[in-house]
Amino acid sequence: MSVAADGSPDDHPRVIGEQRDDELHAWLYDAGEVGWPGEIDLYRAIAREVGGDVPRVLDVACGTGRIALALADVGARVTGADVSTAMVEVARSKTAGSNPRWVVSDMRRLDLDGVFDAVIVGGHSFQFMTTPGDAVEALRAMRRHLEPTGRIVLHIDNPTPGWLDSLPETPDTPEPVGAPRVHPLTGEHWQMAQHWSIDRTRRDAILTWSWQRLGPQGEILEAVAQEPMRLHVFEVAEVERAVMAAGLRTEAVYGGFDRSPFTPASPSMIWLARRAPDRPPRGRRRRAYCTVYLTAVPFTVTLPCARKTVHEEPAGTVCRLTDSTA
Ligand SMILES: C[S@@+](CC[C@H](N)C(=O)[O-])C[C@H]1O[C@@H](n2cnc3c(N)ncnc32)[C@H](O)[C@@H]1O
Repeated sequence: MSVAADGSPDDHPRVIGEQRDDELHAWLYDAGEVGWPGEIDLYRAIAREVGGDVPRVLDVACGTGRIALALADVGARVTGADVSTAMVEVARSKTAGSNPRWVVSDMRRLDLDGVFDAVIVGGHSFQFMTTPGDAVEALRAMRRHLEPTGRIVLHIDNPTPGWLDSLPETPDTPEPVGAPRVHPLTGEHWQMAQHWSIDRTRRDAILTWSWQRLGPQGEILEAVAQEPMRLHVFEVAEVERAVMAAGLRTEAVYGGFDRSPFTPASPSMIWLARRAPDRPPRGRRRRAYCTVYLTAVPFTVTLPCARKTVHEEPAGTVCRLTDSTA
């Protein structure tokens, strides 16, 4: 959408559709400051712990390549994947070679060749998974791309209850935040304006963003609004459930990039997960059976058995564990 500051149609008419909003957002996102102290150091350390000096890293929801580029700079072989073509184009514009390689893909439908030592979802991007089904689908897709010894890292925001309580339920007019940004291609000055609201029923924080192009005196020449974005506010138990349902298991939950343990007051929830052992497909699953020899009567009976060791039953019966394929 494009309107002049007074609400009349833009006096510099341009064709502004979704594409333009997307591209504008991608270039201006990149012109701002994003990042958390210690973030890249932790990602690099985890990748090296698993993958050695040249770990293979998948940066999921890579945006304009902030994390992917930093990890490639320190020797990792990186793939960056993002659902936004515009974000990936900005990322691609920064690299000449094949590391990182860039892919347009929804995190729920990743289908890449190769597997990775570390799969990282940084910058709160996992919170775009706003239903339990989406979260599990995305984690399953990541698991399919994970080395058996690999790790998945999720950086999730842990906002204070006070902030969440303060949010209104209805989106309002976005307010300017931060300093104006210079568009790297056009040299135009753009001011970011944002407004947070909340859908308490679904625990989604809703970010309404608008970009305002500024004139020489700081006057607003045009405003380009974006579709509001929903970011799910995860609770620990929800992530744990999604991790387990995706065939993963939690190795650690940190509260910060210094690996301090997570507490409810931590600003971040940094989840470290690995693959749970593969389960054989249904129908070919190995089941344990217990053969009970009834010594007083001349027959045996085989029953499903929960125990893992050979054990004795009450007088007259001997129970031996046998393995069988169902
Ligand atoms: C806040 S940016 C973070 C980018 C980058 N990880 C960083 O930390 O700088 C969120 C990114 O998530 C991407 N994203 C949103 N939904 C996605 C999805 N379903 N699959 C893949 N990427 C997605 C957006 O396109 C955007 O680039």
